[in-house]
Amino acid sequence: MQVFLLFLLFIITYGLHVDQTKFHEYCIIGAGPSGLQLGYFLQQSERDYIIYEKSSQAGSFFVDYPRHRRLISINKRLTGERNRKFNYRHDWNSLLSDDDQLRFTHRSKQLFPSADLMIDYLNDFSRHYNLRIQFNTTIQNLHPLPEQTSTCQSRECSYSSVTRFHMNDQNDNRYTCGIVVVATGLSVPNIPPIVGIELADGYENLSLNVEEFENKSVLILGRGNSAFEVAQHIYDVTNFIHMVSRSRVRNAYATHYVGDLRAINNQLLDTYQLKSLDALAEIDLLEHELSKRSSDGRFQLSRKQSHANPSIQERQEATVYDRVIRCLGFQFDNSIWHENVSMEKNRGRTKKYPKIRSDYQSFDYDHLYLAGTLTHSLDFRRSSGGFIHGFRYTTRALHRIFQFRYHQQKWPSIVLSWHNLLNYLIKRMNEADGIYQMFGQLVDVILIDRVDRQCRYLEEFPLRLLPRLGEITGYTSNSLLVLNMQYGMNYSGAGRDVFAFDRVSASVHTADRSNFLHPVLYYYQSPLNETDFDQIKSGFLPITSSARVHHIIENILTLWMQPDEHILPLRIFLENILNFDLRQQTSESYARRKLLQRQLNIPTDFYASI
Ligand SMILES: *[C@@H]1O[C@H](CO)[C@@H](O)[C@H](O)[C@H]1NC(C)=O
Ligand SMILES: *[C@@H]1O[C@H](CO)[C@@H](O)[C@H](O)[C@H]1NC(C)=O
Ligand SMILES: *[C@@H]1O[C@H](CO)[C@@H](O)[C@H](O)[C@H]1NC(C)=O
Ligand SMILES: *[C@@H]1O[C@H](CO)[C@@H](O)[C@H](O)[C@H]1NC(C)=O
Ligand SMILES: *[C@@H]1O[C@H](CO)[C@@H](O)[C@H](O)[C@H]1NC(C)=O
Ligand SMILES: *[C@@H]1O[C@H](CO)[C@@H](O)[C@H](O)[C@H]1NC(C)=O
Repeated sequence: MQVFLLFLLFIITYGLHVDQTKFHEYCIIGAGPSGLQLGYFLQQSERDYIIYEKSSQAGSFFVDYPRHRRLISINKRLTGERNRKFNYRHDWNSLLSDDDQLRFTHRSKQLFPSADLMIDYLNDFSRHYNLRIQFNTTIQNLHPLPEQTSTCQSRECSYSSVTRFHMNDQNDNRYTCGIVVVATGLSVPNIPPIVGIELADGYENLSLNVEEFENKSVLILGRGNSAFEVAQHIYDVTNFIHMVSRSRVRNAYATHYVGDLRAINNQLLDTYQLKSLDALAEIDLLEHELSKRSSDGRFQLSRKQSHANPSIQERQEATVYDRVIRCLGFQFDNSIWHENVSMEKNRGRTKKYPKIRSDYQSFDYDHLYLAGTLTHSLDFRRSSGGFIHGFRYTTRALHRIFQFRYHQQKWPSIVLSWHNLLNYLIKRMNEADGIYQMFGQLVDVILIDRVDRQCRYLEEFPLRLLPRLGEITGYTSNSLLVLNMQYGMNYSGAGRDVFAFDRVSASVHTADRSNFLHPVLYYYQSPLNETDFDQIKSGFLPITSSARVHHIIENILTLWMQPDEHILPLRIFLENILNFDLRQQTSESYARRKLLQRQLNIPTDFYASI
């Protein structure tokens, strides 16, 4: 009898277990930072979700990378401010959460801490919130059900509970999902078809033993942070290091792009420019070949023979190297797809990323989304979407898209009277984190209601989705105001003189020539459409015939609350577009009081007090 009951219990438990794991509305693949961040938001909104992770812990990429263990995202613990959003502007490693104890900044006093701390952090984060992660699960054969591949018309299509995707793991357990989010990052080494490339050691498993490079002449293929990281690790002991790649050096401080060469990695620039044997050269690797000399087993990089133009017979007088190291970056791992699934590829410099739409949805399949680094093709070399401090916000935007698309919950917003708009804008410019980190990509959108003299304020909306505002947020308006953060063009870019004496715009009359990150307001009298964006550089908004643009002049502390420079010109701009007198309010005197007291702390209750 007892045995029978136990057996029954087993059947029930096992049966339930199978039933529960069979289908999930949201399946996230990958428990890296973006997978966890999305899991956090889905958990907060009580959705049925699961995260499948191939390894036995969260953040497994950081177990191996960066090879030399130093994070290059800034761990800024102290800012002199108490405002928590403002502090997120300078904390590049934390995930977003409601618990400030979970900030990464508590874990190290170093500005560039060890990657080991990131592994601990991500696992502690997922344990703290008890995120639903199924470890040791390698997803394969992911494919949409055939009927889902055609454009769906019925109302059912907008539910997350419809079974749309099938997949299985390495043990042939099968899973079905309503919505799939691929958050697997870039994990496969990029090995271009260079003749002899197999002679090079890969960054992915490069030895950390410096002694191996003693008295060696080293060639590094690549020009990114990983190439310089390797060079810096070994240059104490080498004879010399040559670094080759097609593009010129792009210093992050000149391009304002954190994925370019960071100062913490750039010591080789000195030893090159001060003529201490190390060198950089610009060559197209695909036109060269690597070879190994049979005489001594050392390596050479030489130009391929050109049959097309026999006059160029002159071979490059090649240097001889003891070691060749390949640091050419990583690509997306295609092994999760079923063989029938084919994804359109990006072209050019974003070809390592799968092609996606502006709402983070796969270009080819509806209800299949990407998150984290994999969405960086949208803002490659423009903003921070490839890094934790950027994609934690695009992941929040993705969750907000889900909320309305599948659950009819509109984009979060507040309604302000026109009298309060100026104060609220000043507050956002001075503390908002998402639009600051994802400058030029996420914007605040203010819908203006001229009948009731009020406006609806939506935060952190993906700029490129403005033509589809109603469909994405549930709100529409004829006239709207957009708050974007922008760098100026004249002092941004590889090779620009970013330290020129006239780099700072000093007068409100030339606020539009501000070079550092500064707020820019765009006003439109009619909704934006896709054609408006046709010729627009990523990061900026179109200037249509009805548009009015207002630049808030740059500020060395990135604080925009000076009465004469920032607030008065903004008030006049708002008065003009609203055709409404805003002089009655207290905001100016409020900000001025704070300023005179030299108390720049932005109170968290700033707008609650207006
Ligand atoms: C995952 O696999 C590792 C070893 O491969 C094992 O130690 C660990 O317990 C497994 N974790 C889970 C949750 O099954
Ligand atoms: C790196 O991986 C390659 C191929 O998997 C292997 O041949 C090589 O020995 C590895 N090197 C190190 C240092 O582990
Ligand atoms: C460096 O290596 C070369 C052979 O590759 C050897 O002749 C020379 O003695 C070595 N020098 C030192 C200082 O070890
Ligand atoms: C994959 O494609 C083949 C032929 O192209 C077809 O026979 C097969 O049913 C497809 N499988 C799936 C799962 O769609
Ligand atoms: C950039 O520089 C050019 C010439 O030096 C000047 O005419 C132009 O106004 C500047 N643009 C901005 C946005 O500062
Ligand atoms: C897009 O809007 C502009 C005005 O901003 C208008 O001139 C144009 O005709 C519109 N295009 C389409 C395709 O609706």
